[in-house]
Amino acid sequence: MEEVPLLMGSNCRAKGAAPGFKVAILGAAGGIGQPLALLMKMNPLVSVLHLYDVVNAPGVTADISHMNTGAVVRGFLGQPQLENALTGMDLVIIPAGVPRKPGMTRDDLFNINAGIVRTLCEGIAKCCPKAIVNVISNPVNSTVPIAAEVFKKAGTYDPKRLLGVTTLDVVRANTFVGEVLGLDPREVNVPVIGGHAGVTILPLLSQVNPACSFTSEEVNYLTSRIQNGGTEVVEAKAGAGSATLSMAYAAAKFADACLRGLRGDAGIVECSYVASQVTELPFFASKVRLGRSGVEEILPLGPLNEFERAGLEKAKKELAQSIQKGVSFINK
Ligand code: NAI
Repeated sequence: MEEVPLLMGSNCRAKGAAPGFKVAILGAAGGIGQPLALLMKMNPLVSVLHLYDVVNAPGVTADISHMNTGAVVRGFLGQPQLENALTGMDLVIIPAGVPRKPGMTRDDLFNINAGIVRTLCEGIAKCCPKAIVNVISNPVNSTVPIAAEVFKKAGTYDPKRLLGVTTLDVVRANTFVGEVLGLDPREVNVPVIGGHAGVTILPLLSQVNPACSFTSEEVNYLTSRIQNGGTEVVEAKAGAGSATLSMAYAAAKFADACLRGLRGDAGIVECSYVASQVTELPFFASKVRLGRSGVEEILPLGPLNEFERAGLEKAKKELAQSIQKGVSFINK
C-alpha cells in the first residue's frame, strides 16, 4: 500500500507536545471512533492522539486536527501503518469492527470482530506492550478473552492493563434510574456487573447511590431497559448501526478515568470487564479501582438481593460460554 504521509495537528510546529499521555484509537473513522476522537482531542490529559483505521483515517485526522486544543493528532491508514500508530502509546482504545443490525445479537458479530481484535492486539503486543488497552469491539464478553490470549502468546499479558469497556451500561443505568427517581442522572451511580450482552448486563439496583428503593415493577422495568438499551438504539437506527454517540461519550469518560489513574489520582473507581477472581469465572465486570498500573484493585460485589443473585447465576452461565468461545478462537 502507498505510504500515506502522517497528518499532524495544527500545533505541529509547536516546540513539543504538551505534557500528557499518548492515546491511540483503532477504528477511529467509525461511528464510535469519530466522536470518540473528537472527545479525546478535547481531553487536556492527552498530548498525542493517533487515529488509525483501514478507511478514511486521513479525512477524520485532518478534520479533528483543526481543533485548537492541546493534543497533536496524527492519522494512520491501513495495516502497514498499524505499528507506527501504536509505537509509544500509553492507552489504546479499540472500537474497530462491525456493529449490530436489527435482529442481531452481539455474538453474531464474533466471526468478523474476533479476527480484527486479534490482529490489532498482535500489534499492541509488539509495539506498546505496556499500554493500557480499552476494548469496545463486540462481543466484549469474548473479545477481552481473545485479547488476553493474544497477549499471553506474545508473552506480554498483564491482566491489570486489559479492560473491557462496559461504561455505556452504567451510563444508561444512571440515566434510566435518574428518570424513574426524578433525579439529575449525574448524581446517580448504579453499579453494573457481569458482562456486556443481554442477561450478562446485571444492574445492582439494591446498591444505587444515593440510597433509594424501587417497587418490583420498577426493578423489572429498569433491569430490562438497561439490558436492552443497546437493542433499543439498534432498532431506532433501523439498520444504520448501533449506539455510537452515547458510546463515544461513555468510552471517553472511561478513557479519562484510566488516564487519571495513570497520572496517580486517588479514588478512581469504574465498572469494567476484566480478569477477575470476584466469581469463579476468569473474566467478570465489576467495580475496579484504577491507578498507575491499570486495575489496582477489584472491589467486592457487595450484598446482592435475591433478584440479583438469580440474575447473577443466569449471567455467569452465558458469560462462561462467551469466554470459552474467545479463548478457543485463539487456541484452536
Ligand atoms: P462502525 O462500522 O461505524 O465503525 C467501525 C470502524 O472500524 C470502521 O471505521 C472500520 O473501517 C473500522 N475497522 C474495521 N476493521 C478494522 C481493522 N482491522 N482495523 C482498524 N479498524 C477497522 O462501527 P461502530 O458503530 O463504531 O462500532 C464499533 C464496534 O463497537 C462494534 O463492534 C460495536 O458492536 C461495538 N460497540 C460496543 C459497545 C460497548 O458498549 N462496548 C457499544 C456500542 C458498540
